[in-house]
Amino acid sequence: MQVRRLQLKVREIQPKVRGVCITARVRGMTGSADLVIVANRLPVDQVRSATGEVAWQRSPGGLVSALEPVMRQRDGAWIGWPGVAEDEVGSYDPFTEDGLTLVPVGLSGAEIEEFYEGFCNATLWPLYHDVVAPPEFHREWWDAYVRVNRRFADRAAEIAAPGATVWVHDYQLQLVPQMLREMRPDVAIGFFLHIPFPPSELFMQVPWRKEILEGMLGADLVGFQVSGAAANFVRLTRSLVGLRTHRDMVMTQDRRSVRATAYPISIDVQHFEKLAGSESVIARAAQIRRSLGDPERILLGIDRLDYTKGILPRLRAYSELVAEGEFRIGETVFVQVATPSRERVQQYQVLRNQVDQFVGRVNGDLGALGRPAISYLHSSFPQHEMAALYRAADIMVVTPFRDGMNLVAKEYVACRLNDDGALVLSEFAGASEELSRAWLINPYDINGMKSTILAASRADPKDTTRRMKALRRTLRDNDVAQWATNFLTALEEMRQLQ
Ligand code: G6P
Repeated sequence: MQVRRLQLKVREIQPKVRGVCITARVRGMTGSADLVIVANRLPVDQVRSATGEVAWQRSPGGLVSALEPVMRQRDGAWIGWPGVAEDEVGSYDPFTEDGLTLVPVGLSGAEIEEFYEGFCNATLWPLYHDVVAPPEFHREWWDAYVRVNRRFADRAAEIAAPGATVWVHDYQLQLVPQMLREMRPDVAIGFFLHIPFPPSELFMQVPWRKEILEGMLGADLVGFQVSGAAANFVRLTRSLVGLRTHRDMVMTQDRRSVRATAYPISIDVQHFEKLAGSESVIARAAQIRRSLGDPERILLGIDRLDYTKGILPRLRAYSELVAEGEFRIGETVFVQVATPSRERVQQYQVLRNQVDQFVGRVNGDLGALGRPAISYLHSSFPQHEMAALYRAADIMVVTPFRDGMNLVAKEYVACRLNDDGALVLSEFAGASEELSRAWLINPYDINGMKSTILAASRADPKDTTRRMKALRRTLRDNDVAQWATNFLTALEEMRQLQ
């Protein structure tokens, strides 16, 4: 587990009661940030050691891993939740880390339940991911969503400098753009959705569908991972809000133009290349291979333990190949890393039990002494260890039922410095639009997945190299710095247009 201690620069705190929470105001910072990132999570989570000491560790998920390098290159402030329940007065000290100004927004225990675990992760998350799990609709969850969005918007309004750029992120904060615009019409507001945006047939289920669209329309520029998502949004603003649209432009009632376009997110390619080429990662990759018994072939899955990721069908496809004798224990091993995620949400608990049970059964039925069929790790690892795993893996298996982008697929490609290794990738991951030279699969089709995994493992090395070279070229053309520049340049253009 990567635990980084942050340098805390606590300035004068002036607690202020707002609802059930207390926010902190830092004198000298109010109204001074030219670029403000607003995301549900800060890039670091607060953790307490056994001795009660406060430390910080990197937050989970693709949003943080993509945005952190972007913010390191720019001077700005990042507003977010530090990942713990805050009930105490004055526990919201802003702090800096390596030039990053982090502005914590506190959530109470009840808000974590109703806003984060409830409306965000048991209503919006499954709904936006093709209802792979049934979404739940509760009015008190919506009320908490409005309340927490308001708190983030207030904080952004406080710290943004006159004429600043405020960039709001993801499904947890869709109401912030409009709330912020009402308070601060002088700032340019961008919104980027990191997860899929569903077609009208699914979105229409939300009782508060119009409010959500209007919330997003407070932005000058609304970004999506893929063009299909942007088109879904534009269509809905026409059919549900009754607005005029032209291509990717929406004309709002207050006579503004809002642009809705795809900006596929990426990773810090150079950083991963450097990491993968470092002596310590090379040595660690060799050690991993040895500790797995020097198999001929290592298959790898790395995901947050989430029901959208298609972990079970992937393991089923692999275990059937072992049972049928296509892969032999000792020669082939599947390493599955599942990072703990949203552990108090029921659907995640159900999935954890299913995966535990499935892995246990497969290893009991098919494994040999000291040689499991699936080497399963339920934990999170620092980037260094991830890079070593990517280096060690011959086949990376990424099989989500639906995914906004999937940065693990891109990280694997970045780490294949010798242009070898095969990427098996779901057609339903946003990444498949750019990484079309991967071995594409449909995670609902177990037989298709089996034959593609086999084909990838038996491919002519020349074909493998050709594919990986093409993937690496594509990735280099759009790294995360390019993504941020594209988005922020387009936002500036929209500001001029208004
Ligand atoms: C996805 C979402 C992010 C989220 C991350 C981790 O990448 O797009 O907004 O932060 O998952 O999930 P968590 O619930 O732990 O923040």
